[in-house]
Amino acid sequence: MSVTIRDLQAAKREGRRFVMLTAYDFPTARLLAEAEIPVILVGDSLGDNVLGYANTLPVTMAEMLHHARAVARGAPDLLLVGDMPFGAYHESCEQAIANAADLLKAGMHAVKVEGGGWVVDTVARLTQRGIPVMGHLGLTPQSVNAFGGMRVQGRSDGARERILTDARALEQAGAFAIVLEGVPRSLAAEATAALAIPTIGIGAGPDCDAQVLIIHDLLGITTHTRGQMPKFARVYADVGDTIVSAARTYADDVREGRFPDDAHSYH
Ligand code: KIV
Repeated sequence: MSVTIRDLQAAKREGRRFVMLTAYDFPTARLLAEAEIPVILVGDSLGDNVLGYANTLPVTMAEMLHHARAVARGAPDLLLVGDMPFGAYHESCEQAIANAADLLKAGMHAVKVEGGGWVVDTVARLTQRGIPVMGHLGLTPQSVNAFGGMRVQGRSDGARERILTDARALEQAGAFAIVLEGVPRSLAAEATAALAIPTIGIGAGPDCDAQVLIIHDLLGITTHTRGQMPKFARVYADVGDTIVSAARTYADDVREGRFPDDAHSYH
């Protein structure tokens, strides 16, 4: 049975925590469906985790659509959220509607936009047109230059109040959930209690309604140097080490004549 935004809202009402994970390709999407992960985010973290960019800023709509289609083929029954990349919703509501429509045509069920006040009108216009929107507040990676680096947000009283006001405004505008990234635990807890829609935390402590991680961090296939994982992430399986070891063993086997052997040959 397909997962819908109503399921997430019911989870919040009933106090059931849920998770979202990122995916960028067909096989990962299939595996996450097998693991019964309800929500997949095709994040613009595609940029730094898959495409080798320094951050998310260079990611284009064309790249997002390419990966969104692959994920949609792999897990059509999960709730699929497509990130609107930097520049795809900054000019006008019309631009945002056109790009969000393209993500839905690519198989996404909802889109995610970063930011507070300035994006609220866009969120309202998208939701009025039947496009579900997930908000994203706090350490929003598309603002890395404005923040002067990837810094925890909402630490001062003023910044904290701004994030809470933005969260209420996004809910009012029709957002169905809000990612809270890189904010103090107490702020995430306050926002979670204040909102009727689910909060999804990453680096926001355990009090959110849901959690999200980047699949590459969870699997240890990461651009972070080993031992320099962000404080909020946990490596659940070191697939990075497994890949290196498997590639080395394969190369050794070929060099030493152990592979392919007769059992792997056609006769
Ligand atoms: O792009 C992404 O993966 C995200 C998550 C960090 C929430 O926005």
